Amino acid sequence: MSHDDSEKTVVYNSSELVVGPEVDENGGDSTLSVLEDGALVSVDGEVREVGPSDEITRKHPPENAETAIDADGRAVVPGFVDPHTHAVFAGDRSDEFEAKLEGATYQELLAQGGGILRTVRSTREASTDRLVANLLSHLDVMLAHGSTTVEVKSGYGLDTETELRMLEAIEIANERHPVDLVATFLGAHAVPEGADADDYVDAIVDEQLPAVADQGFAEFCDVFCEEGAFSVEQSRRVLEAGLDHGLTPKVHAEELSHLGGTKLGAEVGAASADHLLYATDDDVEAMKESGTVPVLLPGTAFGLGEEYADARMMLEAGVPVALATDFNPNCHSRSMEFVQTLACVEMGMTPAEALLGSTTNAAAAIGKADGTGALDPGSPADFLVLDAPRYAHLAYRFDTTAIETVVKDGRIVARDGRVDSMAEGQSR
Ligand code: NIG
Ligand code: FE
Repeated sequence: MSHDDSEKTVVYNSSELVVGPEVDENGGDSTLSVLEDGALVSVDGEVREVGPSDEITRKHPPENAETAIDADGRAVVPGFVDPHTHAVFAGDRSDEFEAKLEGATYQELLAQGGGILRTVRSTREASTDRLVANLLSHLDVMLAHGSTTVEVKSGYGLDTETELRMLEAIEIANERHPVDLVATFLGAHAVPEGADADDYVDAIVDEQLPAVADQGFAEFCDVFCEEGAFSVEQSRRVLEAGLDHGLTPKVHAEELSHLGGTKLGAEVGAASADHLLYATDDDVEAMKESGTVPVLLPGTAFGLGEEYADARMMLEAGVPVALATDFNPNCHSRSMEFVQTLACVEMGMTPAEALLGSTTNAAAAIGKADGTGALDPGSPADFLVLDAPRYAHLAYRFDTTAIETVVKDGRIVARDGRVDSMAEGQSR
């Protein structure tokens, strides 16, 4: 035990310690900085030092640490950041999966009052306690699969009361669960049944946004800019009003068609533009200029049997590509490991690019500037010990998890695909 009250964690003897991006001479960062036989020491949940195992263990003997992990030839990587989820909802839509297999499209289901609108009905009926419980159970799965920071959107309320309850559920779950949550207000997720789109945009601007700002938990304001949802002009009104209330814009753009949401996002200084299946070179240039991070969601394309976003075009243009699960009732995927597999197999990314997209670049997409997503001195001590010698196993495996131990803020919180019940007891 250390001599003062501080809590020390040491992980050593790792075959590969992935520290973060390796910035090359051209300023690009599509490779990783990897220490062979690396070790890390953290104090009170913050990385203090990384370096060769012999040096670190000499300075910080593992027997003096509260938590010591002998990685014994296995790889250690930063905890994942999942920067786009709709993880708070109620109800079940597995029958729509079957309908889609028989030929129904996502937009047809939405036009018939299914899809998002159906989840809105179930979510409005659910108590806040139920929403919290549902979210906590999803967070357990996400954490055990390596996500230590997760963005969660509202957007299944479409009225002030339920939107606020969703954000409250996110805030409560954030207090109770080891995963760090970042909240996004997505009142502009769909036009409610029977409403006129322009009137609904008025309601978002005049009622929902002031109430959300008053509540004070949401950091971002997002909009589904798509035919059948919100036009570019309607989306602009929502995002600019969000900015007036101190919420940073994000946009669901070019998901089912090319409408212009990406350029709008770049114009209003969006932190990210997400989906981008139909994005063009021009869109990518606009993102590059504004520093808007492209967030790609290959699980959505996989689930809908659609084409994938053109990740290589974006990487070649020199923009930092982020990845996310998009977990929602239409895309039942909570694993950033599976996302990395899809990114490599279906979008031609390398395992290094996929890992960067799940860590550093994903942190940039949610405006985290505190070192989250990397393991530099000062970063949160959020890291994963794999049960494999190389980080490439994260993308390479697609049967079960390649993660053996999940450490959040210097404490072990999950092992072998399950949340550690002792850790849960500590943190809940
Ligand atoms: O990111 N595109 C809009 N929103 C979600 C889908 C939500 C749902 O179908 O419930 C998405 O894919
Ligand atoms: Fe989404």
